[in-house]
Amino acid sequence: MSADYPSMTTAEIRSKFLNFFEERGLKLYPSSSLVPDDPSLLLANAGMNQFKEYYQGKKTMKEIGAISCQKCVRTNDIDCIGEDGRHLSFFEMLGDFSFGGVSKQQACAWAFELITKEFKLPLDRLYFTVFTEDDETHDVWRSLGVAEDHISRLGEDDNFWAAGPTGPCGPCSEIYFDMGEEVGCGSPDCKPGCDCDRFLEFWNLVFTQYDRQEDGSMPELPHRNLDTGMGLERMAAIMQHKTANYDGDLMQHLIKLGEEISGKTYDADDYSGASRSLRIIADHSRAVDFMISDGILPGNEGREYVLRRLLRRAVFHGRLLGIEGAFLTKFIDEVNAQMGEAYPELLKNVALVKGIVASEEERFSTTLDNGRVYLDEALAALAEGAVLPGDVAFKLHDTFGFPIDLTVEIAGAAGHDVDMDGFTACMEDQKARARANAKGDAWGSFNDVWVELSDKVASTEFD
Ligand code: ALA
Repeated sequence: MSADYPSMTTAEIRSKFLNFFEERGLKLYPSSSLVPDDPSLLLANAGMNQFKEYYQGKKTMKEIGAISCQKCVRTNDIDCIGEDGRHLSFFEMLGDFSFGGVSKQQACAWAFELITKEFKLPLDRLYFTVFTEDDETHDVWRSLGVAEDHISRLGEDDNFWAAGPTGPCGPCSEIYFDMGEEVGCGSPDCKPGCDCDRFLEFWNLVFTQYDRQEDGSMPELPHRNLDTGMGLERMAAIMQHKTANYDGDLMQHLIKLGEEISGKTYDADDYSGASRSLRIIADHSRAVDFMISDGILPGNEGREYVLRRLLRRAVFHGRLLGIEGAFLTKFIDEVNAQMGEAYPELLKNVALVKGIVASEEERFSTTLDNGRVYLDEALAALAEGAVLPGDVAFKLHDTFGFPIDLTVEIAGAAGHDVDMDGFTACMEDQKARARANAKGDAWGSFNDVWVELSDKVASTEFD
């Protein structure tokens, strides 16, 4: 397998991608805000979000297509972050998009040219997937010189893409880089789509042709469209001859800062302990910086809760690393130093971001200190490997405002599971008691409002 290809920084990859498509007549758009102009989405999660109305034929552009480097946040796997080399909450996505102006053949040919001629990735390490029934795309890759055994067919779970439950979507074709047998699972069935680290998907080409409706129907869009997404951190890992997103240049600056502040050492092959916490802080601090600079404030619902959870999780992992006192604004400075040139909004909003980070960090530190004493006592009283009772987790949540996910995390680190069924039962009991108290009460209907609210809103934090 060839290891012979050039190295490139993240900034070089970003500009090479965008220049390549600008030279071919596609128009450069700035990233849209992380707060989408679209009620079906919590946060911007792909480059195509800002072009939804072009896909739907409601707007047109005179150029043959568009390109962007989009800020994205994906939140479905926050718990996995740090435990492998791939998951990130915030990432940059390079993409080329077209609304009838670029054919599938052309889109694939450009992608192939860019990765083999410009990035000079060796063909023997490139693999391609196509949607099960998509013979056309299979034939296009073959005609470009891809060997039959480097193309596989995957079903809807892998090779059909949609930004959300409704809206433009379609079959896709993914491009993978073989990171080497040594990082793989070793199974004879290991191939693109396998969960191990060997085949890294770095570019997804979606042939957006349907518009999924609330009722699940999928009428055809007016054009055969294109929506592609190249994960910049993934491409940086590949182009810097590394195996994980966290080991490219931008993320490494943040990991190094974590090492300096905590005195702990990062090990790229260790997905637990200090290395995991260093990854989590590096990842979450980027998300926090970008989210606040786009106008999101920490809160208890929706995207505001996502921000609060990421921010608090970063603070908590600082504690796990033994960092005393506030530290998160130092990461904001480092993110800005690395990314402020590409995203000027970070520099413009730095005072706001740091003020909000500092005050949320302080509030949460007080919560942590109070809850932690109670939790440590409860854990110390448990036999080795015993389960932490649900009512203890509930008291932490209800009285101390201590988030359940952190209870699970701390208990897990000490070798104890949490009785989640017991925890949920306590939550239900509390609601049932509130309902019962409300019955027959002159204030009944007033209390009902509080019961209804408590169903919808997270518990109030006790300061
Ligand atoms: N929108 C597609 C994705 O995010 C390209 O994978």
